[in-house]
Amino acid sequence: MKILSIESSCDDTAVSIIEAKNNKFNILANIISSQIDIHKKYGGVVPEVAARAHVENIIPLLDQGFSKAKTKLDQIDYIAVTSGPGLISSLLVGTETAKALSFTKNIPMLPINHLEGHIYANYFKNAAKIKFPYICLIVSGGHTELVLVKDHGQYKLIGQTRDDAVGEAFDKSAKLLGLPYPGGPQISKLAEQGDENAINFPKPMINSKNFDMSFSGLKTAVLYELQSRKKITKKQKADIAASFQKAVVDVLLVKSQKAITKYKVKDFLISGGVSANSELRKTFVHKLSQQNINIYIPEINLCTDNSLMIAIAGYYKLKYFKPVKYYQVNADPNWEIV
Ligand code: KG4
Ligand code: ZN
Repeated sequence: MKILSIESSCDDTAVSIIEAKNNKFNILANIISSQIDIHKKYGGVVPEVAARAHVENIIPLLDQGFSKAKTKLDQIDYIAVTSGPGLISSLLVGTETAKALSFTKNIPMLPINHLEGHIYANYFKNAAKIKFPYICLIVSGGHTELVLVKDHGQYKLIGQTRDDAVGEAFDKSAKLLGLPYPGGPQISKLAEQGDENAINFPKPMINSKNFDMSFSGLKTAVLYELQSRKKITKKQKADIAASFQKAVVDVLLVKSQKAITKYKVKDFLISGGVSANSELRKTFVHKLSQQNINIYIPEINLCTDNSLMIAIAGYYKLKYFKPVKYYQVNADPNWEIV
């Protein structure tokens, strides 16, 4: 079957066309237009600006996608679109475009939760290996969640951040360090030259009995650390970046290990933009393999927002969801996974 997917929940406009069969995915087209350069000068995503860029991008991207895939709209079996959560003005562009396409050729639609998309990014390469039940740690710019997945579409939220998402903490701390947006990859790069044990940053809630987390205090600790110095060298900045990153990874690891023990799962997935972080990847692979846990993390370009993960989530959604008509799809900025 052929699936067309559209993602526009934040600052990336993306279109994919895949051929899916027996849990295998052949990419016919996979195009993404990043808005990083547009938002960089504001130090973060400006929703109104993002929505306008999506409007400009979406039709040319679809044109490119169809010609690259050598596919016509009436050869598409399903249209999968991210309809939440995210920025409402951004979501509306992708959702309404998908609805218009669905209307013209009467193509059934699959509204996809963006977080579900992140989880299914792991299925691109490892669909045959991943076994239920598993836990997925979703770490993105807007979310930090531990989700127990019992079957396709059966999610239980077992823990989440009480304040900032991990990606948000990376981006805000990077800003304090004078690094450009998006700060996650910048901190990661700078941290390579730093000493992760230089500063003992707080790890809030690391010992709490539940699986919830908190990252806003960490960002404030970075601010105080910077304010406590009159002048700061490049090396000291690198030490702060490395120590900050270590605190984040430590908290995520401890919470994940506790969740693995409590729910007795053998498979563990990570996803979302922050799962592109090399220190996080290295630490989780090393520590969880020692516990004989099968660990899966998407390849780097499937960690951050993309439309391929939306197409794959659409394919699996067919296992438990009846596709809908265009008029049944609505953008929902607050759509919770459970
Ligand atoms: O999943 P994503 O692309 O968008 C959302 O759904 O939010 O995640 C974006 C977040 C940003 O906060 C960005 O700074 C962070 O992922 N990020 C990273 C890295 N690459 C992206 N954080 C840490 N290390 C990285 N290498
Ligand atoms: Zn995302």
